[in-house]
Amino acid sequence: MQKYSKIISTGSYLPEKILTNKDLEKMVDTSHEWIIERTGIESRHIANENESSVDMAYSASVNAIKNANIDSNVIDMIIVATTTPERKFPSTAVLLQNKLKNNKAFAFDLNAACTGFIYALDVADTYIKNGIANYVLVVGTEKITSLLDWSDRNTCVLFGDGAGVAILGSSNTPGIISNTIGSDGSYKDLLTVNTDSEVIEMSGNDVFKIAVNTMGKLAAETLEKNSMTIDSLNWLIPHQANSRIINAVARKINLPQEKIIMTVNKHGNTSAASIPLALDYANSNNLIKENDIIMFEAFGAGFTWGSTLLKY
Ligand code: UT7
Repeated sequence: MQKYSKIISTGSYLPEKILTNKDLEKMVDTSHEWIIERTGIESRHIANENESSVDMAYSASVNAIKNANIDSNVIDMIIVATTTPERKFPSTAVLLQNKLKNNKAFAFDLNAACTGFIYALDVADTYIKNGIANYVLVVGTEKITSLLDWSDRNTCVLFGDGAGVAILGSSNTPGIISNTIGSDGSYKDLLTVNTDSEVIEMSGNDVFKIAVNTMGKLAAETLEKNSMTIDSLNWLIPHQANSRIINAVARKINLPQEKIIMTVNKHGNTSAASIPLALDYANSNNLIKENDIIMFEAFGAGFTWGSTLLKY
């Protein structure tokens, strides 16, 4: 019998400290009005000095494991999507495995910038479909504010920290219907953290335009590939970078606003954590129902992009 992978639970963690646009007005030459109008962001969570991407991943994972009602030792694969690992090595995933006292899984990190969670879902889905894994902990965790130049108003107002988790289990019915991932390294310098500066540098306007075009096209192609129309979609859970990008993509595919999960206003751009954070938000607020058709979609540095279409 053909195997599928299904999301059996979600979890998330957001640091306690909240930084508002008004707080940022005291730090750089910006205004609450500019940030809201250009990005839709009102506030973001900031991890404290002693809080790492592993700590946040751990809290979100404990939450997801509890929601799944499983023992952490049934998890046989752990993938952590992050660009802000606690250590260069061992991986964030191995450090997380240790904290979870899991002795069964194999664990590794994956870096596809803001598209990391979609890439990780694709890998998890492939391992489950091939019968290699049965329960996969898929994590997006970022202490992305550790990569910010707090004097650069072009970037420091955009990002926030957090972690989100989805546990995938093997199932006889879908589940994940299709995954599409892609990349183009010729755009490497438009959004980057160079090893000499160690801070995020971005050509915001260029990224904006390419993000809207790529995500609009990808969403349409994902539906077409699966012989679905926009009406079959219950929810779009996009990468949360900017509400203007999300709304422009929705307009391109004629998707009504009510079908979009939007958390960028309270989270900012949390990179690889943004989709699982938005998913857990939707899940814990009972917005998603069994059998709903959902599309995840992301775009990030590289450039990288990807979509996942699934039945909940
Ligand atoms: O996670 C995936 C990748 N990241 C993204 O998807 C981000 C994509 N880009 C964006 O979201 C938008 O391009 C931004 C929000 C970053 C910027 O919005 P924009 O409408 O593209 O503005 P802009 O870069 O064209 O800048 C317009 C003006 C500039 O001033 P001048 O040169 O016209 O005088 C900027 O200096 O706004 C100025 N500006 C600011 N003003 C107040 C830039 N940042 C700020 C700020 N506060 N924080």
